[in-house]
Amino acid sequence: MKDLIREKYIPLESLTERSADTVEPDRKLYVETYGCQMNYADTEIVNGIMGKNGYDITENINESAIILLNTCSIRENAEYKVYQRLNELKKYKKKNPALVVGIIGCMAERLKSGLLSKKSVVDLVLGPDEYRKLPSLIDNLIDNGEKGMAVRLSRVETYEDIMPIRKEGIAAWISVMRGCDKFCSYCVVPFTRGRERSRELEGVAKEIQQLWLDGFRDVTLLGQNVNSYKSGDNDFADLLRTCAIAAPEMRIRFTTSHPQDLSLKLIETIAEFENLCNYIHLPVQSGSNRILDLMKREYTVEHYLSIMDSIKKIIPDVSLSTDIITGFCTETEEEHRMTLDLMKEVEYDGAYMFKYSPREKTKAWSMEDDIDEMTKTRRLVEIVELQRDISEKKNLLTVGKNFEIIIEGISKKSDKMLFGRTDGNKTVIIPKNGTPAGSKVSVHVTKANSATLFGEIVHDN
Ligand code: SAH
Ligand code: SF4
Ligand code: F3S
Repeated sequence: MKDLIREKYIPLESLTERSADTVEPDRKLYVETYGCQMNYADTEIVNGIMGKNGYDITENINESAIILLNTCSIRENAEYKVYQRLNELKKYKKKNPALVVGIIGCMAERLKSGLLSKKSVVDLVLGPDEYRKLPSLIDNLIDNGEKGMAVRLSRVETYEDIMPIRKEGIAAWISVMRGCDKFCSYCVVPFTRGRERSRELEGVAKEIQQLWLDGFRDVTLLGQNVNSYKSGDNDFADLLRTCAIAAPEMRIRFTTSHPQDLSLKLIETIAEFENLCNYIHLPVQSGSNRILDLMKREYTVEHYLSIMDSIKKIIPDVSLSTDIITGFCTETEEEHRMTLDLMKEVEYDGAYMFKYSPREKTKAWSMEDDIDEMTKTRRLVEIVELQRDISEKKNLLTVGKNFEIIIEGISKKSDKMLFGRTDGNKTVIIPKNGTPAGSKVSVHVTKANSATLFGEIVHDN
């Protein structure tokens, strides 16, 4: 290993692909993932690219030669966690100066060369559309001691041809589209992930079939805005239909839809196919039209509620979840209460709730972040507590009923218990009884709290 301190970005055309047989066998890669499911899916793509280039994937950081942090920029706190982790990584680098440390993902895209200061422990910075360059940048770092950066966003990259390396399991993800063109005023994603583009329908359908053969039983199709999916003349509902037919036993879910363009066709397609899960995550963000307008969400509360009505009518046993931001610029107490009222009206099964965090480059960055921290925290606590009560009430309604669940493994809380999920994405704990992971079983729910259902197997299917 030569001098790693020099900072010089190398012309990428001069780099050659590293082929599997030129790589030292002990080259081990460890990737730590932060952020959303798309980042987890991307880590599997990175592992696929690196695996193809002769690297071994390890889950043991202590035996790794390369550590990559796949990062998130969505809120300030998400970035703070990564800075803390980088601080901890200094000790690994001290022990092993040849260790390669890379920042990949959304923080890499947002902060670019800012992450490569002389003192920084970081050797590599790669944005979400540049993962194919990882092997060559690592080569160049090792051979020439040059730190590397690749942060161009692409209008076409979907990693269609890359075979992700997944952990064995029951649930899998597939990113079917990348990027976001919505530019909600608070959100950094359009800047870190670039423009919308989709994978081909046939490629996704084949991948689901293969996942079934590999033992997966529950697949989530991912995109920041799946309603923008396009492959030829096919839209997202067509993709769901094709996948449902291609793998008729596979449970298929998706996230995330935008309320502005969730179509009736999509709702009807979910209702039509047994294996398309009756679960919809539809972020509302706020219960106030004035705040929604400031957020550039492009729908009103009334429009949102009318979609919810259609969903509940067409898919009667649907589970619903949402995202909410509290304390957005200028949000009044009354507008905060409107969010609480909307939550009471919809009765979500679950919600992801956040305090507003200003992000550079976004439209809201230039608005005053005028809700003080204490008020943001208090409002967040109020919505979290309300949601806990609603989730508990909805979960208690399942007691005494039977549900089909797919067993995913041993419960984290007790090795005498198994856990699985319902079609509606609720976690169910049952006593261990030798049923292998991946089995679909019918369970009778005997008790429930706001987070979990508890039950007993009725009979194996
Ligand atoms: N594409 C998805 C999810 C994007 S990020 C969608 O449009 O719904 C997930 C959630 O993070 C968002 O729904 C939003 O609730 C939250 N979020 C995004 N930017 C934020 C910010 N600046 N501060 C606080 N929460 C934010
Ligand atoms: Fe962000 Fe809005 Fe795009 Fe979602 S739809 S990723 S919140 S800009
Ligand atoms: Fe975070 Fe990037 Fe996902 S900012 S939420 S990892 S798209």
